[in-house]
Amino acid sequence: MTLGKAHGIGDVVISVRPFADYVAQFALSDPMLRGGRVLDCPGGASDFAAAVRNMGGHATSIDPCYGVGTARLTQRITADLTRVLVWTAAQTDRFPIDEHRVWCHAPAWRAAADAFLADFRRDRDENTRHYQPGALPRLPFPDDSFTLAVSGFLLFTYPRQFDVDFHLRALRELLRVAAEVRVHPLNGSAGNPYPMLETVLGRLAADGIRVDLISVPGQSDTRDTQTLRLTRR
Ligand SMILES: C[S@@+](CC[C@H](N)C(=O)[O-])C[C@H]1O[C@@H](n2cnc3c(N)ncnc32)[C@H](O)[C@@H]1O
Repeated sequence: MTLGKAHGIGDVVISVRPFADYVAQFALSDPMLRGGRVLDCPGGASDFAAAVRNMGGHATSIDPCYGVGTARLTQRITADLTRVLVWTAAQTDRFPIDEHRVWCHAPAWRAAADAFLADFRRDRDENTRHYQPGALPRLPFPDDSFTLAVSGFLLFTYPRQFDVDFHLRALRELLRVAAEVRVHPLNGSAGNPYPMLETVLGRLAADGIRVDLISVPGQSDTRDTQTLRLTRR
């Protein structure tokens, strides 16, 4: 076990959280997934949206990383997964490892990356536009395009890279395109609570947004036990 001060991952990583992690961390129900129009922003290399479509739902992913071809994206995902494995192996008190000293979540992440890349390739071949390049705080969708937007491991996760103004503009933009927005986690990648959370939530409440915090089981990091739910009134 490597004990010591938790540290953040540094530059924004393209991560690969599997569908099951999304369901748990965003407290998602079957009817929300099958019956609604779901936006995953940022989608990263997660297989979440592909799995929602496989169960008969509608899901779209957006991420700046989708602006390159499949070969380049595959290289970036592989390099970033290596970065995650080095980062997790250096903090084994926070991220459990197996008998080969590899993070326990690595097999599930690799399987999710394979599923994502197969679906990304299919999307490019069939031009179904399920994966669209784009970046917060501007999204290429009309108002009210989605019933639900989920946003994992970008907002609040990188407090050094993104200031309060960016967070507010990003959350207002997500609320423009979706009636409900869920954000997880509320900690930075070093595991500490996002320091400006009260400021951001206070401004959204002043806009008339309903703000709730939901308790969830931590997935990749057991400290990540809260999800933000924002609803337009
Ligand atoms: C840590 S990953 C999270 C991916 C996925 N939600 C997950 O949990 O596995 C962060 C993602 O944010 C994307 N990103 C970086 N800047 C962004 C922006 N301004 N707007 C939207 N996505 C952005 C990156 O390309 C990266 O794929």
